[in-house]
Amino acid sequence: MIFLSWLEQTAVSVWVREAPTLWAFPFVLFLHTLGLGIVAGFSVALNIWVLRFADRYPLPPLAPLFSLAWTGFTVSLISGILLLIAFPTKALTDPVFYIKLVFIAGALVQLRQLQNYVMGCGNSSSLLTISRRIRVGAGLSLALWAGAILTGRLLAYTYNYLMATDFLMGF
Ligand code: HEM
Repeated sequence: MIFLSWLEQTAVSVWVREAPTLWAFPFVLFLHTLGLGIVAGFSVALNIWVLRFADRYPLPPLAPLFSLAWTGFTVSLISGILLLIAFPTKALTDPVFYIKLVFIAGALVQLRQLQNYVMGCGNSSSLLTISRRIRVGAGLSLALWAGAILTGRLLAYTYNYLMATDFLMGF
């Protein structure tokens, strides 16, 4: 808790948390939402394509979209770390935060697996054979992204301590 208290007093933490400008916490939260919208949005569309259309329509050129999805995740990661630095005690003493990270990790592993599978099929104009494993993965991924977004949103409500001082003072 001493470390969290120290982190909360660092210049970056204070600026993101308290600076009276929209470029601080509001803009960082906007970037976080933009990034997650790109990576989760693309993943959901891709999974629905796998589940519903891949055996009926030829493979669209997905390589640039995968890069966009990973860029979206990188934006979410950097902004997420800034949000974490702004309120470390709030996130790190909330079990929902760890559940969220597990959902995100699972969803990203599935995204990488699907990327390897789809890119491994080359840019053929023929139809993709979607194995049962890929289908189950696509369904699971939809649930994981829903879980990541739900737990991410809940973080604003489920926390126990806002700041380290609240914990140390036993509030
Ligand atoms: C792509 C993966 C991610 C998704 C889908 C996601 C989802 C969300 C959502 C929906 C919110 C609520 C935004 C709002 O209040 O408007 C949020 C907030 C937050 N996320 Fe993420 N997030 C992701 C990655 C991360 C990562 C990697 C971290 C940290 C390392 C992180 C840390 C946070 C924190 C600290 C908040 C602020 C909670 C609060 O104080 O209200 N997120 N996230």
